[in-house]
Amino acid sequence: MRDVAIIGCGMTKFGELWDKSIRDIFVEASLKAIADAGVDHIDSMWVGNMTAGLFVGQEHIGALMADYLGVAPIPTVRVESACASGGMALRAGFIEVASGMSDIVLVGGVEKMWDGADVTYALSTASDQEYEVYHGVTFPGLYAMIARAHMHRYGTTREQLAQVAVKNHKNGALNPNAQFQREIKVEAVLNSTMVADPLTLLDCSPVTDGAAAAILCPLAAAKRYADVPVRILASAAATDSLALHQRGDITSLRAVKVSAENAFKQANLGPERIDLAEVHDCFTIAEICVIEELGFVEKGKGGEFTEKGYTALDGKIPINPSGGLKAKGHPVGATGVAQVVEVVEQLRGQAGKRQVKGAKVGLTQNMGGSGASSVVHILGVV
Ligand code: COA
Repeated sequence: MRDVAIIGCGMTKFGELWDKSIRDIFVEASLKAIADAGVDHIDSMWVGNMTAGLFVGQEHIGALMADYLGVAPIPTVRVESACASGGMALRAGFIEVASGMSDIVLVGGVEKMWDGADVTYALSTASDQEYEVYHGVTFPGLYAMIARAHMHRYGTTREQLAQVAVKNHKNGALNPNAQFQREIKVEAVLNSTMVADPLTLLDCSPVTDGAAAAILCPLAAAKRYADVPVRILASAAATDSLALHQRGDITSLRAVKVSAENAFKQANLGPERIDLAEVHDCFTIAEICVIEELGFVEKGKGGEFTEKGYTALDGKIPINPSGGLKAKGHPVGATGVAQVVEVVEQLRGQAGKRQVKGAKVGLTQNMGGSGASSVVHILGVV
């Protein structure tokens, strides 16, 4: 296995991109990453995408994107793991370079969700069709059940859930690529439209168009391209049952815990060494459960930890400095790659007003469904 570095990255603005197609936004993000890395060719490409077939009626995404980016005939394939597709694409690209199969790899993520599809249905295909979707449950509904169980078992309050959204909107207000660049207050979250009790509209990540890309190469060659190469210290993935009712405890996300433990083992460091993390806050309760599984806080205490400000930009462990899925937006197949773009910018000291001072090691955690797949990467400046 070779050590692998990220030498370039780029992304589109996230939001409602009515005047651009899925291929436009993929090419835009990829060209930014290519220019950032200064490479003159790509050997292979991995494209994270959850369901362009349902969102825009387009399958065969890998070859289409290679053609429009002008890099055909290189080998390329779409990677799908629901909302974790982007993170899994990065893992595939990492393995490709580490194994010696390719030297320069482009990892992209893309999703176009505003082009007229039934978004709630398309997203629901990532949950269990026979046991969940058939009975009418949606993702807000599934996470609402997790939230109620967490509140009941650990005393997590409605206000603590809202604090996650308040903090992420505060960070998003500092991110020019974020879908929502405005701060909100706890009262606004509590009083926004009820989606699935106890989760209101402002507890939910939005519907988003967007793309992100990163260029990978062997660490040994990275200095040729980048002043500050960012090393991939660990890449680990894990799975769990799709259906919530099949889990022993719905407040625990086993795939997140296992992927995190394996990543920490690979990187030979623990949660206390992480300077910032981009995690999968598709709903406010998700961020609380995820920070517990990552080991940043004891099980059951994620709400209190958030309320005390420990996850804020200037807190003990800044979580989602980009604004997270909640405020930056959640173009499902692109999200995992966009998390990496944020961590790379932070580690290079290029995150502007949302810069975490002295950041040297960052973590990304990307999740599919209600936690049926999870992928964790740990990145560090060499
Ligand atoms: N956060 C903040 N603001 C939001 C928002 C969100 N999640 N969703 C919509 N808004 C804003 C819109 O910008 C709009 O503002 P405006 O009136 O100033 O233009 C307003 O709220 C109403 O938007 P609308 O598009 O009518 O909302 P909606 O009711 O159709 O959709 C949700 C809201 C929460 C149902 C939708 O965003 C959703 O389904 N989110 C979850 C996505 C999901 O499940 N992802 C996968 C996770 S596993």
